[in-house]
Amino acid sequence: MHNQTFFAKDFGPDFKWGVGMAAPQNEGAAFEDGKGLSIWDVFARKRNVIKGGARPTHAADFYHRYKDDILLAKALGFKVFRFSIAWSRVLPEGTGKVNKLGIAFYHNVIDECLANGLEPVVTVYHWDLPHALELQGGWTSREMVTWFSKYVKLLTEQYGKKVQQWIVMNEPFAFTALGYMMGMHAPGKMGTANVYPAIYNAALCTAEGGRIIREHCPHAVIGTSFSISETKPFTSSDKDIAAANRADALLNRLFIEPVLGMGFPQLDQFDFLDKLHIATTAWRFIDKLKFDFDFIGLQNYFSVTIKHNPLIPYVSASEVSAKKRGKPHTAIGWEIDPLSFYCMLKRFSSYEGVKQIIVTEGGACFKDHLHNGVVNDQERIDYFSAYLAAMLQAKKEGVPIGGYYAWTLTDNFEWAYGYTTRFGLVHTDFETQLRTVKNSGYWFRDFLNGKAV
Ligand code: NOJ
Repeated sequence: MHNQTFFAKDFGPDFKWGVGMAAPQNEGAAFEDGKGLSIWDVFARKRNVIKGGARPTHAADFYHRYKDDILLAKALGFKVFRFSIAWSRVLPEGTGKVNKLGIAFYHNVIDECLANGLEPVVTVYHWDLPHALELQGGWTSREMVTWFSKYVKLLTEQYGKKVQQWIVMNEPFAFTALGYMMGMHAPGKMGTANVYPAIYNAALCTAEGGRIIREHCPHAVIGTSFSISETKPFTSSDKDIAAANRADALLNRLFIEPVLGMGFPQLDQFDFLDKLHIATTAWRFIDKLKFDFDFIGLQNYFSVTIKHNPLIPYVSASEVSAKKRGKPHTAIGWEIDPLSFYCMLKRFSSYEGVKQIIVTEGGACFKDHLHNGVVNDQERIDYFSAYLAAMLQAKKEGVPIGGYYAWTLTDNFEWAYGYTTRFGLVHTDFETQLRTVKNSGYWFRDFLNGKAV
């Protein structure tokens, strides 16, 4: 699959090549110009939750360096710039009083993109709930849909004339499971009493956000982004196959199926889902979870191999790591598996109601070394060439893929991994904030300028 030479033009003239980032990972300026606290600002103060005790306070300082970073994105040849809005920067208390300086900042970012020939793509929610709302229950609260709707309306009023493409929600499975079930991400809550309402409210806000943008910006292109990972059974035993199916229902089906009008997924003998159905049916608005998105954003980083494991609560399943199985993996152990990316693109395109797919993230972290002004990250180049080849194959076979947004422009704050994990095409020195384009960044530039891969 990956041996043939290909060009960016093979993806077609309208294919959108972009690069993405997110407010809490890049902006820094966590306490500047009237921004309120986000759940990540507060979570990071706890002990032993983030590697190295890192905090997102300064991150990659995008708040002060956005002009330079946008120029970098342009210099690397990208035509789309995806970023998220920090809810607590525009509405410090989550609702109510608007922070003019926060509003102005995103106008500046959007204007700078447009002036440099980059299409701004706005992610409405990339995991940084205002702490003020978390104090009132956050994603577990029935008020979420009201708070979220007001926030989305404000964004459309402010930016709707300039922004053509919107992504409502980023990876709802990740922020609900890690933040409200496992306690590994902000706000650090655990258990089904938290995660069931969080799942329901995230699904409801996804659809409601789509409806509000459509109402206020009828010409906008509206999508929402899901994390996806092929789940492969470790052996062909019935138990491992059933375990892989349970993992699949959670990792891949949980949020897309309600959006497509199918409700939350069903699976025989999976108590966790049965109880989710019972809990959410009581909330009665299941039909409101549907929205006809213009595109579905897919984000795939790895596949997982799953075995039956009765010791693990709820799913009775656990991963057999790539390292253990002697398979290629990134610096944090994520399996490099371009074939599974191809398979997942095919699978998601076969859902009725998926009109277009945009790969709204893709990338890898490796142990990069800056040496004499050079980062020779050949592994990342290999990763991108293999994944892009897999995507091209899927596209040639008819999967309606409209774009690919590389993750990410500069090294940034990688959630619970802090600053130990580098995903950027551009190296960040977190002491000086000096940027150095990695060899993978130059590779992307050459590819987008017409060079064969
Ligand atoms: C997906 C998330 O959306 C993004 O914030 C994160 O940095 C990447 N995965 C890599 O983990």
